[in-house]
Amino acid sequence: MLTDNHGRRFYYLRLSVTDVCNFRCDYCLPDGYQATDNSPHLGTAEISTVVRAFASLGTQKVRLTGGEPSLRADLPEIIAATKATPGIRRVAVTSNGYKLPRVIGQWCDAGLDQLNISIDTLDPAEFADFTGHDCLPRVLRGIEQARALGLEVKVNAMLLQGGADRRLREFLGWLRHTPVTLRFIELMRTGDNREFFASNHIRGDVVERELVRDGWQLVERPRDAGPAREYRHPDYLGRIGFITPYSEDFCDSCNRLRVSAQGRLHLCLFAEHGIDLYPEIAAGDSAALAERIRREIGAKEPSHYLQQEQVGATRNLSMLGG
Ligand code: 5AD
Ligand code: SF4
Repeated sequence: MLTDNHGRRFYYLRLSVTDVCNFRCDYCLPDGYQATDNSPHLGTAEISTVVRAFASLGTQKVRLTGGEPSLRADLPEIIAATKATPGIRRVAVTSNGYKLPRVIGQWCDAGLDQLNISIDTLDPAEFADFTGHDCLPRVLRGIEQARALGLEVKVNAMLLQGGADRRLREFLGWLRHTPVTLRFIELMRTGDNREFFASNHIRGDVVERELVRDGWQLVERPRDAGPAREYRHPDYLGRIGFITPYSEDFCDSCNRLRVSAQGRLHLCLFAEHGIDLYPEIAAGDSAALAERIRREIGAKEPSHYLQQEQVGATRNLSMLGG
C-alpha cells in the first residue's frame, strides 16, 4: 500500500482524462477553456498503464475526472479498461452532466460504479448563468436515469455568496424525496480566481451548524473515507456532505493522488508543480512506473498551505480535476 511520510494511505486515484471543459463556471473557467498544457492527452492504452501501476501499489478506487470527461469519445473504453484492471474495485466519474442522458447507459455497461455530477443551483436560469449552458433539466434527467440503473449518485454543489440561503432551501426540498448525496464544497482559491474567491467564498462550517440545529446527524465514516463529513436526517431520503478545505485538519484524511490528462502526478491539488510521469507511461512499463510513483510520494507535503494563501501551480481545477 502506498503510504507517505505522514502515515496517509493512498488507495484512491483521481485520474484526469482531459483538461478541456465546455462549461464556463465563474470560479473555474469564467472565460471558457484555454489550453495551459499543450502536451497530448494520454491515450486509452497509456491510461491503462497508469491504472495498472497504481493498482499494483494498492489503489482500489479510480475516479475519472477532467475537465469534462464526457468530451472524450473513448470514455466508455477507458471506464471498461479501468474496471477490468486487477485490484480496482470501484470506478467513478465526475462530470458536469451535459451529455448524461445520452451516455449514462454506455458508462454503466462499461462498469461504472459511481457518478458525481456538479450542480451548483437547482434554479434553471441561475444554472444557465453559472455555467453558460441552459441544460439543468437534462442533467437532472440524467441523474434519474443513473439512479434507475443502480448507480450511486453524488451531487457536488459549490457554496457561493449571493443567494446561498435560497439555494440551500431548494436543495433541501429536492433531497427530501431524492436519495442522492449532495456535497457542499467550499470554494478554493486558485491561481485564476482571486477576485471571485474574495467576494464569493463562504465557510462550510456555518451552513453545517445550521443543518445540525435542524436535526441533521453526522454519519460515522471510517477515518480513511476521505475528507468529507456526511449528515443524514430522518425526514430526508438524501444526505448532505461537506468538503471544507479551509478547516484545520482537512489534509490529515487525504487519501488521494492525482494524475493529469498529460500524465503528470500531482501530490496535492495545490502542489507547486506536477511530476512528469510520461516517459514511464509511454514505455508501457507499469512496474517501472509504480516504482517511480512510490519514490515520488516521499515528497508529499503534510498540508496544502491554502490558509497561508499558497495556491501552488493550480490556475484552475479544470487543469487536473476537482
Ligand atoms: N474550489 C472548489 N472546488 C472547485 N471545483 C472546481 N473549481 C473549484 C474551486 N476553485 C470543483 C467543483 C466541481 C468539481 C468538478 O470541481 O465542485 O463540482
Ligand atoms: Fe490532500 Fe492536497 Fe487535497 Fe490537502 S489539498 S487534502 S493534501 S490533495
